[in-house]
Amino acid sequence: MAQHDNGDLTAAAGSAIEKSEPLQVSSGTAVVSADAIANPGLPPHRERVTDIDPAKERQAARRVSTLFLLSILGSVFAVVAYIIFPIVPGDPGSVRLNTLFLGLGITLGLIPLGIGAIYWAKHLMRGDEITEQRHSTRGTEATRAKAVEVFRLGNEESGFGRRTLIRNTLIGALAVTPLPAIALFRDLAPAEDPVKLYKTTLWEKGTRLARDPSGTPIRAADVTLGSVFHVIPEGLHDVEGVLEEKAKAAVLLMRLKPEDLNELPERADWSYQGIVAYSKICTHVGCPVALYEQHTHHLLCPCHQSTFDVTNHCEVIFGPAKRPLPQLPIAVDSEGYLVAQSDFLEPVGPSFWERSA
Ligand code: FES
Repeated sequence: MAQHDNGDLTAAAGSAIEKSEPLQVSSGTAVVSADAIANPGLPPHRERVTDIDPAKERQAARRVSTLFLLSILGSVFAVVAYIIFPIVPGDPGSVRLNTLFLGLGITLGLIPLGIGAIYWAKHLMRGDEITEQRHSTRGTEATRAKAVEVFRLGNEESGFGRRTLIRNTLIGALAVTPLPAIALFRDLAPAEDPVKLYKTTLWEKGTRLARDPSGTPIRAADVTLGSVFHVIPEGLHDVEGVLEEKAKAAVLLMRLKPEDLNELPERADWSYQGIVAYSKICTHVGCPVALYEQHTHHLLCPCHQSTFDVTNHCEVIFGPAKRPLPQLPIAVDSEGYLVAQSDFLEPVGPSFWERSA
């Protein structure tokens, strides 16, 4: 087709539309070419062996059921393997075994299910070739009735209602297939009570506050007005599983003028001469709150800009965090080193729904 300046469309040579008569057509108008390739039609239908031999048909049905049964066994195997080969924290070998057997089980659960369905369709469902004309997607009452009829025919032709063994094993396979996923979702939950998990860190009564990363203990006299220290518990480097523990125990230490601190009455003795210590883990989603603005005494989380006011027990003054940074109660030991009075008294890190439990 050629398009003229006036926007008319004229049928090209050989078109079913007369060449000499400009025709107003809207986009999407179908123009049938006279030289279109003729519809070759469908090749003659060939019967399958299962269409003509009842013994072969029964054999094929047994194969399909066996595949569905295999799928059930695979899914059950995945769940059992998940329990028998648990992931032991700190043991990479256990992760490998768990992943290997769980993966094998899921594979055994899914592959026979897929093969069984294909085998069923190719060998047992009716094998007529049909041509389906495109039609409007909106269904009229007549087409809806037709759909019901087609569904009924499909049921009849596939033998879904009649072949009870296949149907029941398929239902069994489909019901069991999601089980490995349930087992996997279990891993999304913390292994232990999250309140206990996040409230318990390496800090305990008498643990010295040390510089991160050198591990050198900090004297109260070293902390000058306006300074900020990134802090870890002394001896952290000797602890097993150090990365996780370090993540929970990271602390920021700052010194303000005591009169600038607006401390809660119950926390009046949690600071030392204007020196305060707060968890470094943002209460939004756990980024390290590493930016301290000396003039305003604000701590800023670089991830989503949550801002905490150190003068007001680190309450949130901006951003998506929903609760203040947990405070670490501190004191000074007989040699002048800063020490923790106890562990944190609330869970560190992001908020979660069990937190108030
Ligand atoms: S993690 Fe700190 S603001 Fe989002």
